[in-house]
Amino acid sequence: VEIEVAAAEWELTGHQHYMYKEMLEQPEKAAAVIRGRLDDRFATARLNGLNLTPKELRAFRRVKILGCGSAYYVGQIGAQLIEDLARIPADAEAASEFRYRNPIIEPDTLYVVVSQSGETADTAFAVSEIKRKGGTVVGVVNAVGSTIAREVHGGIYLHAGPEIAVASTKALTNMAMAFGMLALHLGRLRDLSFADGERILTALKRIPDQIQAVLDDEAHIIDLAKRLAKTQNAFYIGRVRQYPVAREGAQKLKEISYVHAEAYPTSELKHGPLALIDPSMMTVAVVPDDELTDRNVGAVQQVLARGGEVIAITHASVDLQGLDVARIDVPKSEPELDPILLIIPTQLLAYHAALTLGYDIDKPRNLAKSVTVE
Ligand code: AGP
Repeated sequence: VEIEVAAAEWELTGHQHYMYKEMLEQPEKAAAVIRGRLDDRFATARLNGLNLTPKELRAFRRVKILGCGSAYYVGQIGAQLIEDLARIPADAEAASEFRYRNPIIEPDTLYVVVSQSGETADTAFAVSEIKRKGGTVVGVVNAVGSTIAREVHGGIYLHAGPEIAVASTKALTNMAMAFGMLALHLGRLRDLSFADGERILTALKRIPDQIQAVLDDEAHIIDLAKRLAKTQNAFYIGRVRQYPVAREGAQKLKEISYVHAEAYPTSELKHGPLALIDPSMMTVAVVPDDELTDRNVGAVQQVLARGGEVIAITHASVDLQGLDVARIDVPKSEPELDPILLIIPTQLLAYHAALTLGYDIDKPRNLAKSVTVE
């Protein structure tokens, strides 16, 4: 039975595209990445694969996350989670840039590399460079036994199963889940309270079902994707925790539908990009229910006032004040984890835009699943 299950992982099993199959697998795979790793008794995550003792983990004063493309954007989500929950200064950088700039490697920084394939040349080189200079590097990797998985000190396997579509979906979701657990673990070794640990732990457990709820909203999202397919240019905007969501959403649309899409922090709109808003520009705005909702609604108003069309990825509790926007409501998680769910509609939007335009979704032009060239 095990062998049959393993074989099915590599097959389309009746779906038209691997990307579609992999999106649908997300509830099951997100459950797999947390399975056996959540510790209710101490309201933390058990991450023995890191191969680092609590004492060693407490000694790190910074966290630096490295990955390429979408893995880098999820790294940005991870850095914010670590700052939020563990209060350790953290940032993410493209591994492809890091490797060329003679990076400073510090002994009290924990380096975390993120990769679905574990074979991305730029990320693998970053690992070698960190190790050569005596740094500690762990991996958030999907492919078991891959080059990066073998080179790192320890890590968190993603258990997302094989991902075949060039456009990554389920692996990215599980990367974000893994960062949720890493941030919880680091937080509970420091000053994150039991109550806050429990809040995050409970929220992580609910995410698989909540992803399913977003997937169940597909029919509505298809209508909006058809509108997106008609545009030449799109902006994706999000603020703070949601800026990486915007980056990932724009990336997906570009990769498979070839619609020109750019991501901006919502706060940066007025510093330049607003000049490009006119009736031909579609804006996908991430507007979660949080302390910045009013500011985000204000930005949507600015776009509408210039004739732009808006799709808001939001929560049902957000009052969009009767504005003329199309909305996609996703289930609410805890604010720190909301990005995981807010990304899911961007996958469906990109997929259905590409389908409408008739492109080869699993093998977009000019791209390879894993970039093993320098
Ligand atoms: C994702 O949709 C892209 N195809 C791409 O950005 C990808 O995430 C990147 O090349 C990193 O790949 P990796 O996770 O296998 O290292």
